[in-house]
Amino acid sequence: MKQLQSKVAFITGASRGVGKGLARAFAAEGATVIIASRSVEAGTATAQAINRDYPQGRAAFLATDVSDRLQLEEVLERVVEEYGCIDVLVNNATPSDGEPTRLENTDFGRIEQLTRVNYYAALWAMQKVFPGMKAKGSGRIINLCSLNGVNAHRFSVGYNSSKEALRALTRTAAAEWGRYGVTCNAICPAAVTEPWETYVAMAPEAAQSILDMNPMRRLGDSEDDIGPLAVFLASDAARYITGNTIHADGGGHINGVPWLYELPE
Ligand SMILES: NC(=O)c1ccc[n+]([C@@H]2O[C@H](COP(=O)([O-])OP(=O)(O)OC[C@H]3O[C@@H](n4cnc5c(N)ncnc54)[C@H](OP(=O)(O)O)[C@@H]3O)[C@@H](O)[C@H]2O)c1
Repeated sequence: MKQLQSKVAFITGASRGVGKGLARAFAAEGATVIIASRSVEAGTATAQAINRDYPQGRAAFLATDVSDRLQLEEVLERVVEEYGCIDVLVNNATPSDGEPTRLENTDFGRIEQLTRVNYYAALWAMQKVFPGMKAKGSGRIINLCSLNGVNAHRFSVGYNSSKEALRALTRTAAAEWGRYGVTCNAICPAAVTEPWETYVAMAPEAAQSILDMNPMRRLGDSEDDIGPLAVFLASDAARYITGNTIHADGGGHINGVPWLYELPE
């Protein structure tokens, strides 16, 4: 029996990067996976590849801009109508990293945009799926957070603060919804994705020192290193585990991340 047999998982931002890895890992364990992101080309390609590689699960793409509350809620309703329920919600979508900026120079619009996707969209989705999970007496919510926020890395105030708001929401949901069998945990990953490759190109020496300080000397693979943790948290085996932040980062959080370059005043 697969760990996520007959579970329905809704994963935002699963067309690429970490979310795509989680979607593939979930499908390998028998889940039906709904990929909710904006690019039709990328989302369709990811769903098709999953259906080809993991016939034991299945994947569908639903074009969704999670920053549009109405649209997000309509998509969640459609999923329940079509698949009967949502057993697992993964809030993973995040806007592309903008240029690093000093806190005092950061445009408020940028902070709003990050907050809308990283925090409000997760909140809206959680509020929407909760009644169904409560009625069923079980549910799994997994929120993707970041060491950036935990350790307050410099020059990314909007990202850091929206991700830390999401971690506070994670613990609040765990505290309020545990009695209904609904768990809520945060994963802080470190994985090779497009934003990491951009960072390597922008600051190669800083990127190398991140790898040098990582106990495992590498960043993870979204499917094979981050996926198994998410599968476990989504599974029945994790029914008594809630309110946690788990770092899936090869131990990178232990030594922290060096931030070598400076920005002008
Ligand atoms: N990679 C890491 O090492 C790392 C480290 C710490 C935390 N994280 C966290 O892990 C998660 C995934 O990161 P990643 O590196 O995989 O990011 P990524 O490669 O940039 O992927 C982001 C995903 O979010 C989607 N997205 C962006 N805006 C959206 C919107 N408004 N509505 C719906 N979907 C949207 C994108 O698809 P579209 O553009 O097509 O919509 C894409 O599928 C994020 O929450 C991030 O904060 C990652």
